[in-house]
Amino acid sequence: MPLSAYLSVLGGTGLTAYVGLTRIAGLREGDDVFVSGAAGGVGTATGRFARLLGAGRLIGSAGSPEKGKYLTEQVGYDVAFDYHSAPVSELLGAAIGALRERGRVVRIGTISQYNTPDAPPVVFNHADVVEKSLRIEGFLVSGHRDAQEELYDFAVPHLRSGALALDETVVDGFELIVEAFLLMLRGGNTGKILIRKA
Ligand SMILES: NC(=O)c1ccc[n+]([C@@H]2O[C@H](COP(=O)([O-])OP(=O)(O)OC[C@H]3O[C@@H](n4cnc5c(N)ncnc54)[C@H](OP(=O)(O)O)[C@@H]3O)[C@@H](O)[C@H]2O)c1
Repeated sequence: MPLSAYLSVLGGTGLTAYVGLTRIAGLREGDDVFVSGAAGGVGTATGRFARLLGAGRLIGSAGSPEKGKYLTEQVGYDVAFDYHSAPVSELLGAAIGALRERGRVVRIGTISQYNTPDAPPVVFNHADVVEKSLRIEGFLVSGHRDAQEELYDFAVPHLRSGALALDETVVDGFELIVEAFLLMLRGGNTGKILIRKA
């Protein structure tokens, strides 16, 4: 395996995507999946894994039209949109409002709130949660390290066959680690951001 895979799809990033889909969402073949932050490390892994696990329609949102194009042309998403292109509440009407009965929402992160504590909270229609029997669940990957071997069993054969590819943005120079971290927060990465030591 390429060593960088152990930092992306076979590492904590891939484990987060895998656990989110299999253990938390309980993805079943044919289930439609919507992923926000779809062009990042976890988002691209989630899209690729969902496709391999037999998901139905795969929809993603990301921060630019170029990322949307990458998602549909490279990662396997059916549709992707730039969340800046219209009010997110309207765009996500297609996601939260459209959840079917017994739909599942997996909360992996809240990046829009990390540096802006006064950012408006995500709003759910609580009546929908009751009436459609929805489930909203968050998790920390650190609580699911026991799924690591299962992730290898799932992902390594797909990497070997070429059915699973790596999505990476590589920054050269360990001294650029802070810049690379800030680049990631600003959305400058597609796939997993990695620092390569010269
Ligand atoms: N629960 C866990 O155990 C666990 C484990 C790993 C990661 N996470 C979380 O999962 C998320 C993704 O992590 P990652 O490592 O894969 O990072 P990432 O998605 O590769 O990078 C972060 C991306 O977030 C997007 N972003 C930045 N500000 C945003 C905003 N205000 N609204 C919407 N999107 C914004 C940017 O892409 P755009 O250009 O698309 O905006 C950026 O590329 C993070 O929230 C992280 O904390 C959780």
